[in-house]
Amino acid sequence: MHADNWANKAKQMGYRTRAVFKLEEILSKIKPKKKYKNVLDIGSSPGGWSQYIKKKYSNVNIYAVDILDMEPIDGVNFYKDSIENIDNIIEINKLKGTFNLVISDIAPNLSGIGAIDIENIFELNQMTVNVAKNYLNRDGIMIMKTFQNNMLKTLRREMEMSFKEVQMFKPMASKKQSGEIYLFGVK
Ligand SMILES: C[S@@+](CC[C@H](N)C(=O)[O-])C[C@H]1O[C@@H](n2cnc3c(N)ncnc32)[C@H](O)[C@@H]1O
Repeated sequence: MHADNWANKAKQMGYRTRAVFKLEEILSKIKPKKKYKNVLDIGSSPGGWSQYIKKKYSNVNIYAVDILDMEPIDGVNFYKDSIENIDNIIEINKLKGTFNLVISDIAPNLSGIGAIDIENIFELNQMTVNVAKNYLNRDGIMIMKTFQNNMLKTLRREMEMSFKEVQMFKPMASKKQSGEIYLFGVK
């Protein structure tokens, strides 16, 4: 389906972004051992992924973090902050080790200078892996957007050091020409 069609479908369904269909597809590949109870959404704005999780698993507690504002979503606890400060968000810190699912669609503002963008993406991804490692419970699942570049192998290797299973996935709803790709792991 063309990107515009995914966007129209999202609009019709009341979702803020077409990114929900990427998450839907990735989640459909995963068989969690436990029911999702606590979910952490990093780089959550404008809120499509949080909306999707809330709709699909109505009883979950969702904690969402972004440096940008996010319009409120019923049942979603939003914190306007950077991933770098996540340990200082008391309500989230209290739940360290209890999250069943960490999802991250985090992406930096692109400078247009390839090497700098690759480095920024890598740093954010490394932070995300670290947060997921510390905040997930045993068998917890992490889903993270990254990009196909010369740091991808290193990133995957780092993830494999903390996650017993790591896989890569390019959802159909992701534009073919976009370099984005998703890593998911089981802790
Ligand atoms: C592609 S958007 C996420 C879209 C979201 N998944 C949705 O469905 O609505 C990427 C987000 O990452 C956020 N971001 C970038 N750097 C961040 C940081 N250091 N900490 C938290 N969020 C960050 C951006 O502000 C942006 O909102």
